[in-house]
Amino acid sequence: MEKAEIIKKLNWFYLLEINQVHLYRMQSRQVDDFYLQKTLERVAEIEQGHVENIRAKIVELGGIPGMFGEIAGPFSGSVAGLATGAAGTVALLKANIQLEEKAMKDYRDFILQAGKDSDLFNLLWSNLIDEDLHTAWFSNKVQELEKRQ
Ligand SMILES: [Fe+2]
Ligand SMILES: [Fe+2]
Repeated sequence: MEKAEIIKKLNWFYLLEINQVHLYRMQSRQVDDFYLQKTLERVAEIEQGHVENIRAKIVELGGIPGMFGEIAGPFSGSVAGLATGAAGTVALLKANIQLEEKAMKDYRDFILQAGKDSDLFNLLWSNLIDEDLHTAWFSNKVQELEKRQ
């Protein structure tokens, strides 16, 4: 992959991760369940770590973080407002799972293009595994809430 192409892709992920940080922070203030509030805060911090590691990689490659150009990602905070009550929380978590699964797919695709012997490869893997852990936790919580209903 050419450097310019890598920088462009990284900027796409940079935007995605910024969006995740805002989304989870917002959700942590909206849900009723205290444990879920704390988990979403923590997940937002981990997403912030992704923002920073991607930002650093863009700079290292000579790019400018935030040069999104014509990129219009499939991002939204539209799951906000669903959070109240157990049914609302389940809907919110399911939307999060979809978002995480999309991120994982995009990370996997990028990994395949990135080539094995690079720092980039390791960075993408590390972020991918975090997204997988978020997905697993959200899925587990959905099961728990659905059992209670
Ligand atoms: Fe992330
Ligand atoms: Fe995530």
